[in-house]
Amino acid sequence: MKGKMLGKVVLITGGGSGIGRTTAIVFAREGGKVVVTDIDSDGGGQTVQSIKKSGGDAFFQKLDVTNAQNVQTAVDKTVQIYGRLDYAFNNAGIIGAADILVGDYPEKSWDMVIDINLKGVWLCMKYEIQQMLKQGGGAIVNTASVYGLVGGINAGYVAAKHGVVGLTKSGALNYADKGIRINAVCPGFIRTPMVEKFIEEKPETEKEFNTLHPIGRMGQPDEIAAAVIWLCSDSASFVTGQAINVDGGFLAQ
Ligand SMILES: NC(=O)c1ccc[n+]([C@@H]2O[C@H](COP(=O)([O-])OP(=O)(O)OC[C@H]3O[C@@H](n4cnc5c(N)ncnc54)[C@H](O)[C@@H]3O)[C@@H](O)[C@H]2O)c1
Repeated sequence: MKGKMLGKVVLITGGGSGIGRTTAIVFAREGGKVVVTDIDSDGGGQTVQSIKKSGGDAFFQKLDVTNAQNVQTAVDKTVQIYGRLDYAFNNAGIIGAADILVGDYPEKSWDMVIDINLKGVWLCMKYEIQQMLKQGGGAIVNTASVYGLVGGINAGYVAAKHGVVGLTKSGALNYADKGIRINAVCPGFIRTPMVEKFIEEKPETEKEFNTLHPIGRMGQPDEIAAAVIWLCSDSASFVTGQAINVDGGFLAQ
């Protein structure tokens, strides 16, 4: 197998669905060795099956990003099986309580979205960085959102994603001279189960979501995967601490 990622080892969270699954498949197609992690074993297992069916190299490790022990074990397993960790894509996330105003936001929902979408990214970075320092370098991409850069209705989600952008910049500064580059990708609305759920419930939102993007449509998961792979690759060797919008022009307005 040939490709831009030949022999490179990547750990992906939220690899059992949507953006994480597609990115795992594209990494493998480019010759990478992929550690697919997710809290959902069925979804993660299906991603690995699909990679293996196409001749790629991957294994599944169940991981809840809010559990430090799970994260450490996943990094250790990566090193046991593939010998190193070149790249990490910290992507697992949830929407949390939708369409609830700040004054009514349930505390339980707040804790959950901050735990998974923000603390989870930090926990993953913590153990990934410890391994990357031992090897002398690596690259990390975190999934933020356009809502990591502007406000929106879902306050818990928006707060967590702004946190991811801040964490990405701080981490990048912490390790810029240690060979570890850390960036974030900020997708617009992407057609994954997360968004399809809204459209199923309220079909009129499809048009609404399309028109939010000057390009006139929502994005596809492989359009995010392409940015993640570029950010990991040596082609982005001078890029760190950035929050890159992949949003069909959403934030240019
Ligand atoms: N789809 C979009 O429009 C969009 C836009 C901007 C940002 N994002 C972000 O992209 C990322 C991926 O979203 P998606 O659209 O692919 O959604 P998705 O729901 O298809 O996939 C999310 C995955 O994360 C996993 N997950 C949830 N909680 C977890 C936990 N505690 N530990 C480990 N895994 C967990 C889920 O099981 C699922 O497989 C999320 O961080 C999301 O916020 C999505």
